[in-house]
Amino acid sequence: MKILGFKATNSRTVKAALGRDMENIPAQFPALFSGADKICLVTSSDAPPSLRARALRLFPEGRTPHFYFWLPPSEKAKTLEEAGRLCSFLFDNGFSRNSLLIAAGGGAATDLAGFAASIYMRGINWISVPTTFLAQIDAGLGGKTAVNLGGAKNIAGTFHQPALAVCDTAFLDSLPHAELRSGAGELVKYAMIGPASLREALLKRLPEAVSGDKTALTACVSACAAYKLKLVARDERDETGLREVLNFGHTAGHALEALAGGHMPHGEAVARGIKAALAISRQARCLGAADHERLLAILAMLRLPPARRVRRDLKRFIALVSRDKKARGAGNRFILLEGPGRPFAAENIKPALLTRAFAEALK
Ligand SMILES: NC(=O)c1ccc[n+]([C@@H]2O[C@H](COP(=O)([O-])OP(=O)(O)OC[C@H]3O[C@@H](n4cnc5c(N)ncnc54)[C@H](O)[C@@H]3O)[C@@H](O)[C@H]2O)c1
Repeated sequence: MKILGFKATNSRTVKAALGRDMENIPAQFPALFSGADKICLVTSSDAPPSLRARALRLFPEGRTPHFYFWLPPSEKAKTLEEAGRLCSFLFDNGFSRNSLLIAAGGGAATDLAGFAASIYMRGINWISVPTTFLAQIDAGLGGKTAVNLGGAKNIAGTFHQPALAVCDTAFLDSLPHAELRSGAGELVKYAMIGPASLREALLKRLPEAVSGDKTALTACVSACAAYKLKLVARDERDETGLREVLNFGHTAGHALEALAGGHMPHGEAVARGIKAALAISRQARCLGAADHERLLAILAMLRLPPARRVRRDLKRFIALVSRDKKARGAGNRFILLEGPGRPFAAENIKPALLTRAFAEALK
């Protein structure tokens, strides 16, 4: 097991345990559990039985018995109503400010449970246990929590660092191929925005990781998590531009996810959002033709399925892109690339470029 950590702005230490086949986390992090008067394990109702069994190997019931809370599947969990339902459950069962919430699931479950943990009694401790490839390399780390509103992604949310994130790649054994490929969408993001050493390491492992190779998945989780936590440690609240580069592919990606109405996995939407960002970068002449081709060849490694279930509604796409919370008051805001490993933020991309970007994203 590899343990990473940093000091968060509230001066608490944030830790991440990365590895495979871990056991009995309370025995390894006793301080986190000794003060917990109650523990609630939150998982998704559609998660396979093996997920719960593995979660219980990581967190065996000890002197403090667990309460269990089930969320609706995937994005259906990310609503204010679900956050309220979870907070009411905690209150009805006597949870206090000293209680602990453990969220084991994909990024939707960790986003929602982290959000509830941040508002319940103005914030209680939580442990993030991401169980999809995407959540282990991205969503389950970094302390951004959120729910969706009005068909738009992550509109209400908080920063609330998990005291501990446990990324155990044994969870990924039960993950369907489509979810591995979805995770690889975020992996390609890291490969394109990160330094050359990270890019080379990830691209070497990408095909094996998508085919479910255990060693490759563990190596990718370890490399991406370390890179993300480094950015988060230096810009925890997304204020200086360092962390913002992680939004590469997400402005158009979130819009496509909304247009697909729940029929496109997040990572696939990000991969298509990356195509859109590359198209804008190229048309704006920031990105050279040779680099553009090289980067498109990386995306082709994902073998994305045809985008059949996305509404081809350009007006709505442009509206969603400008309503994205990353726009920060501008007409729209994208992370673009000047070349591999050279991301930058750009605002007010013109409708003609957005039109072309939308078409490219759906190819
Ligand atoms: N907070 C952040 O920083 C951040 C970053 C990136 C993405 N996100 C969010 O993460 C979400 C996407 O996360 P996701 O890709 O994990 O999707 P998801 O949470 O929707 O999970 C996908 C499916 O996989 C199932 N599943 C989970 N673990 C499994 C396992 N081990 N075996 C078999 N099935 C399993 C889930 O039950 C679900 O049906 C989006 O809502 C996105 O906005 C958040």
